[in-house]
Amino acid sequence: MAARDYDHLFKLLIIGDSGVGKSSLLLRFADNTFSGSYITTIGVDFKIRTVDVHGEKVKLQIWDTAGQERFRTITSTYYRNTHGVIVVYDVTNPQSFVNVKRWLHEINQNCDTVAKVLVGNKSEDPSRRQVDHGDAKRFCDQLGIRLFETSAKENTNVEEMFSAVTAMVLQCKKENLARLQQRNEVVKINKPKRKPAVKKCC
Ligand code: GTP
Repeated sequence: MAARDYDHLFKLLIIGDSGVGKSSLLLRFADNTFSGSYITTIGVDFKIRTVDVHGEKVKLQIWDTAGQERFRTITSTYYRNTHGVIVVYDVTNPQSFVNVKRWLHEINQNCDTVAKVLVGNKSEDPSRRQVDHGDAKRFCDQLGIRLFETSAKENTNVEEMFSAVTAMVLQCKKENLARLQQRNEVVKINKPKRKPAVKKCC
């Protein structure tokens, strides 16, 4: 069997209104590219990137969902086995921020424990901003969620945001494991000790 090239495999999901820049964030993170033209996602798409977190190799399978209403029933099934969810709004589009509540509700309906962050994308041009940073921050603080303002276009904070989600998921996994070990629900399998080589005498 081929050796595994990672220590952890995590599934992340990107959700949010149509046009907020979900695909662009994924494209920036996975391929370091950006396109100014808008091609709406049909159903779902995913990309893989492996990152290093404190010396551990984490393979990320990142699912990009369609924001359009007509794909909602397809995308809801993609919450299964998700470790982390990235909820995106567009700082130049207030309605997309209002709708964040709806997206967070959808996470609660579909996931038990999951790491989540809120992302205000398209933050590169202050003259186009319509969602105040302070308002978004207060909203996040109330819910105990981290806020990131990004620009997929200018590659601002994208790497930091994905790294933070990955670190959160890893931390969660380690805490869960420690809890199970405390309750003796994880059986540690020790490698059988090698018998010391018997010295042959002549
Ligand atoms: P759906 O697939 O319909 O759900 O949309 P989406 O959320 O995946 O949006 P997408 O990434 O396709 O981006 C929509 C439009 O916003 C495109 O024209 C992008 O070029 C543009 N866009 C994405 N990110 C940024 C950004 O950081 N700044 C600016 N100015 N435009 C962006």
